[in-house]
Amino acid sequence: MPGMCVVGLQWGDEAKGKIVDLLGDDTDLVVRYNGGANAGHTVVVNGKAFKLSLLPTGVIRPNVESVIGNGVVVYPPRFIEEVENLEKGGIDVSGSLFVSDHAHVIFPYHMEEERLLESGGEGKIGTTGRGIGPCYQDKVGRRFGIRVGELLRESHLRDKLKFVVPFKNKLMSAFATGTDGKAFDANAIADEYLGYAERLRPHVVDTSRMLHDALAAGKKIIFEAAQGSLLDVDHGTYPYVTSSSSLPSGIWGGTGVPAKFVTRIIGVVKAYTTRVGQGPCPTELLDGPDGIGERIRKIGREYGTVTGRPRRVGWFDAVAVRYTAALSGADEITLMLLDVLSGLPELKLCVAYDLDGERVTHFPSDAYQLERCKPIYESIPGWSEDITGARKLSDLPLGARKYVERISELVGLKVSVVSVGPDRAQSIMM
Ligand code: GDP
Ligand code: IMO
Ligand code: MG
Repeated sequence: MPGMCVVGLQWGDEAKGKIVDLLGDDTDLVVRYNGGANAGHTVVVNGKAFKLSLLPTGVIRPNVESVIGNGVVVYPPRFIEEVENLEKGGIDVSGSLFVSDHAHVIFPYHMEEERLLESGGEGKIGTTGRGIGPCYQDKVGRRFGIRVGELLRESHLRDKLKFVVPFKNKLMSAFATGTDGKAFDANAIADEYLGYAERLRPHVVDTSRMLHDALAAGKKIIFEAAQGSLLDVDHGTYPYVTSSSSLPSGIWGGTGVPAKFVTRIIGVVKAYTTRVGQGPCPTELLDGPDGIGERIRKIGREYGTVTGRPRRVGWFDAVAVRYTAALSGADEITLMLLDVLSGLPELKLCVAYDLDGERVTHFPSDAYQLERCKPIYESIPGWSEDITGARKLSDLPLGARKYVERISELVGLKVSVVSVGPDRAQSIMM
């Protein structure tokens, strides 16, 4: 089993970090292949929480090497901040954290570009504001993209920024309204980023070669997806998606490791649905401050790790998860945050959509069609017991077991882990 992938099958925040951490006992490397500091992965070990955005979750495991692959977009100040936070907590990653020299770098003008585009009402995606989209645009546009390896060569970086920044300033002034808008100075950015470069330098390698060597040496790798499959730029609810391939298809391009090495794919799902930002979410609970949606948000602490925004909350959508399970090639699912549903007398599972009066069981091909879909539910009785102390399947009340079983049937995959609390220990291995 050389490589496995942990991927979210909903709209992100499925608790991928917890699963990567659980599997971390039996791996040599953890590799991020997509996204950047738009991700927020929280892991709790013996009551202590670790919040990671740009760094792979493997960093908290002493014997694991962590790799930021070429498909990730890197904001150096965030990289440094996360490394320093770990150091403060007594975790030294100086010899165990690697970043690809091919990964693209996020600059302040990327964030400003995004801020300007997101501040108009029309076309708003509800992004995390981390410069992710504009940086990926520059990557595929080829003219303005700057990679981590280029940060390490002073005169090259200064020349490149002298070429890029005037274009960005023109673009920014076209987007800006009135006095809203900044002009950037190429030299100042170069000075700032050359400082970051010295902090990054010891971590920078050709990570695809490193991973090929690791595979040849028989090492085991976990590929840690950021975002969720419904935010994948190709297969998600376009245009309300992120700018990278969050599905396992992103691994080959985003790390250089061919798909044939990824032999186990673990799809992570919440026992309900959440979504942050704009875009349709058919099962969303819009039942007000005293409703079930707000109750789940409070108990599940459904506020974004990166932006603090309240997450939109809804019932489990089996149509969506069947779609992403197929796209990702998931071999199994892990069912997370089941404890959050305790105490609800009745639970609902979305088994089909009503699309303009017709019952459909396939996921529609874009957000515009999904917006017109109304959920068709099946009801299932809930359970009243607190389940946070359950450690084996038989500790769960019958209602909870039935709910797990029904999700497994609807998705068509076995459930390999049931999670009943944030802590590493609050897990039922099936
Ligand atoms: P990720 O982005 O997919 O890694 O997920 P996040 O870390 O953004 O969100 C998952 C949140 O749920 C984190 O705060 C976790 O600590 C927490 N969590 C994980 N598993 C459970 C669980 O089984 N029950 C509860 N109540 N919280 C959980
Ligand atoms: P993790 O890895 C949930 C959402 C944003 C927005 C859309 C585009 O923690 O699961 P972007 O900043 O990427 O251009 O925003 O994607 N989004 C996430 N939602 N979890 C995430 O990551 C997300 N990363 C991006 O809210 O709707
Ligand atoms: Mg998250």
